[in-house]
Amino acid sequence: MRLCVNIDHIATLREARKSFEPDPLFAAQLAELAGADGITVHLRADRRHIQDRDVSLLKEIVKTKLNVEMASTNQMVEIMASIQPHQVTLVPEKPNEVTTEGGLDVILNEAQLRQTISRLNSHNIRVSIFVDPNLEQVKTCSKIGAQAIEINTNGYATSKSEKTIKESLKLIEDCAKLGIKLNLEVLAGHALNYKNVNQIVKIGEISELNIGHSIISRAVFVGMERAVAEMKSLLG
Ligand code: PXP
Repeated sequence: MRLCVNIDHIATLREARKSFEPDPLFAAQLAELAGADGITVHLRADRRHIQDRDVSLLKEIVKTKLNVEMASTNQMVEIMASIQPHQVTLVPEKPNEVTTEGGLDVILNEAQLRQTISRLNSHNIRVSIFVDPNLEQVKTCSKIGAQAIEINTNGYATSKSEKTIKESLKLIEDCAKLGIKLNLEVLAGHALNYKNVNQIVKIGEISELNIGHSIISRAVFVGMERAVAEMKSLLG
């Protein structure tokens, strides 16, 4: 299973002082040195952490794969068309949310998303869609032409009882199986950490995880390379 490291929170720290440091570019290079298979950033409409400059320069220096999370808007499509990251992940975005709160409602936004995917694909950008573990949503991702889905693991990660953990895992597994059947690449992420990642690693249909907060939190104490290497070793 591949590991994409989300480095948004390096930029969060920089923006706390509107400073030049710490630079997410250094974090990306250290993550790659430590074995990361990709770098993920979220370019938000409010630019609260990652800036346009970060995405442009990351595209130049990332040797593995650059995945940019973004809302499905005209402005974002235009920016990505000029930067051309390897992959875009479409996510819902609310101005005051602390983090992405859930998957995209692909069924509700089918026509708009279809257009965005086609525009991004025409610039050689692969498109993944962040979805909740729901079979109908997964089916619609395939119908509108996405190349991949990223299954939202937040429900699993925040489950408190054995019963709800089991139920969440079953939902994720069923969606992963359906995704593969529909020729989608199946990725997963959100709220995964060094403890709860083990159950997700067992789902063979999932080929890649996006993990940010827990890796960056650990990196504050043990350093970026060690934090990434430790997570990577848990992915087998
Ligand atoms: N996947 C998506 C679509 C996200 O929006 C985020 C958070 O930016 C992540 C994965 C990573 O989540 P976390 O920071 O909880 O590991």
